[in-house]
Amino acid sequence: MNLTLKIWRQKDAASKGAIVDYQVKGIEGDMSFLEMLDVLNEELIVKGEEPVVFDHDCREGICGACSLQINGEPHGPDRLVTTCQLHMRKFNDGDTIYIEPFRAKAFPVVKDLMVDRSSFDRIQHAGGYISVNTSGNTIDANAIPVNKDDADDAFAAATCIGCGACVAACKNASAMLFTSAKVSQFALLPQGQIEATDRVLAMVNQMDEEGFGNCTNTGACEIECPKGISLENIARMNREYLKASLKG
Ligand code: SF4
Ligand code: FES
Repeated sequence: MNLTLKIWRQKDAASKGAIVDYQVKGIEGDMSFLEMLDVLNEELIVKGEEPVVFDHDCREGICGACSLQINGEPHGPDRLVTTCQLHMRKFNDGDTIYIEPFRAKAFPVVKDLMVDRSSFDRIQHAGGYISVNTSGNTIDANAIPVNKDDADDAFAAATCIGCGACVAACKNASAMLFTSAKVSQFALLPQGQIEATDRVLAMVNQMDEEGFGNCTNTGACEIECPKGISLENIARMNREYLKASLKG
């Protein structure tokens, strides 16, 4: 495949960015989207030009680093995959592909396609943990019975990789899907009950402080989420928040 790439280039957070056109040739359908960008970058390096900066780490759908807006969609046109799992067979010879960073006030651009998602880390730090008694009276986790449906739902919520696609897909740049997944994975388990009240209040408060928008139930986040995190988590977080506010 020969492709035209229209890529957002931006020197740093303070500079103004712009779309720059590139041509890539000989792209195979079996290549991942990031491998296609590797081909471009190798050519740019050989020509003495600056390679395009983009975030990546595991390249197997686990770390959540590879966040790109591809033709206007977070992680591109495929469903339930991250950018690193997106294959070039999803595109056709001669296609023009727009590649931009995730856009949200709380995700400032670091350079080119890389954004700073430390706002997500701060939401996690606000309450994404549990207390464990390590005084010598530790209870074996397997000794605490957990309802199977709750365990399954908690596991599903815990598969959120913190990629930020939910924010990028949302017209309000809301982080409700991410935050609700992080609240739900504990709210559903007995181990998460000790801090339950403080957790939801602190995480929602941090989410607001970071400048994410409000949820208006559009549902774009669920559609674009590479891990299929359900909107039910948002409803659960709202219930948890109400409960905690009444207690507080
Ligand atoms: S909820 Fe989905 S889209 Fe949002 S950060 Fe988690 S994995 Fe990514
Ligand atoms: S590079 Fe880790 S999820 Fe894509």
